[in-house]
Amino acid sequence: MSPARIWREHEDSDGTRILEVAKCLRDGGLVVFPTETVYGLGANALDAAAVASIFRAKGRPPHNPLIVHVADVQSARELAAVWPNVAQVLAEAFWPGPLSMVLARNDRVPDVVTAGGPTVALRCPNHRTALDLIRHAGVPVAAPSANPSGYVSPTRVEFLAEPIEQAADWILDAGPCHGGIESTVLDLTVDPPSILRPGLLSREDLARVLGPAIAVGTGTGSAVPRSPGVLGRHYAPSAQVVLVPAHADAFSVTRDLAANGHRCALLTFGSVAGPSYDMIVVTMPRDARAYGRELYRALADLDRRGVRYIVVEEPPDTVEWEAVRDRLQRAALG
Ligand code: TXA
Ligand code: MG
Repeated sequence: MSPARIWREHEDSDGTRILEVAKCLRDGGLVVFPTETVYGLGANALDAAAVASIFRAKGRPPHNPLIVHVADVQSARELAAVWPNVAQVLAEAFWPGPLSMVLARNDRVPDVVTAGGPTVALRCPNHRTALDLIRHAGVPVAAPSANPSGYVSPTRVEFLAEPIEQAADWILDAGPCHGGIESTVLDLTVDPPSILRPGLLSREDLARVLGPAIAVGTGTGSAVPRSPGVLGRHYAPSAQVVLVPAHADAFSVTRDLAANGHRCALLTFGSVAGPSYDMIVVTMPRDARAYGRELYRALADLDRRGVRYIVVEEPPDTVEWEAVRDRLQRAALG
């Protein structure tokens, strides 16, 4: 397989090269593209063979369904068996944006996209390059995050893993993603709607439109079924993530690991005077959005630097931190 070709916005000022990328996508190719959350690895959602190649490239288990990306509401409706009023209301409020709506699917959607299930997740990303690509391709685009299954999602093309680069025909480089955390996956086949995966669109944002009755599918011990992709360890770097409760002393945890000869990093809200041993200290933002934007970059960067343990000071247990806490908890699973 020849390595992917790279597209950069400033090299395509008249927008002709992206037409070539879109044609490749429509014809069964794989394209890494930016969104407002993370980079995705896209294929023509109506082409089962192309979608199957996404699963191979990521080493993704076949039971984990993909999100289908569309450029507008009309294209979403063409894939759903029914388009309930709540979907219309949410689309008007939050699309384009980081909301993936799970709806009953119709038979235009190949089984491989939905992992054989009766529903499909639909999302209209808020990113000009993504929307241009989807519009020019003229087909819905199935895309998971562009990482090997289970690993940290890439928020810049510099962080793409080798197997993904090898599998892609094109890589659309539009710099760092502004959101940094994946979309919120909301199940609209149940009443009240249920959050299957917390994400960039917060529960508060949803509550403003839906009212306070939104079930959570992600809390530990919850009876509500989760998205298959949020079961078990996920969003994890190669290094072991150690999540230290806010009341405990993350610095001494790191120091003890480092004293045992392990290369360590500490993700902290404070600063550390004169860090000892072999320890990288990363001061993270106290604002949840800014933290989310930085998190995967920090994890990917520390992996590159060969860190064995990443000790993370647990963020506050408040609603604005929900998505970040979810990712950290899953990354820390053994
Ligand atoms: O922000 C995002 O959502 C990024 C960008 C590229 O759009 N995509 C992304 O896709 O994070 P992925 O495949 O890494 O995560 C999709 C999540 C998984 O947890 C999957 O199980 C869930 O959505 N999902 C997809 N289709 C579903 C369905 N029909 N029912 C329930 N969960 C579904
Ligand atoms: Mg993913």
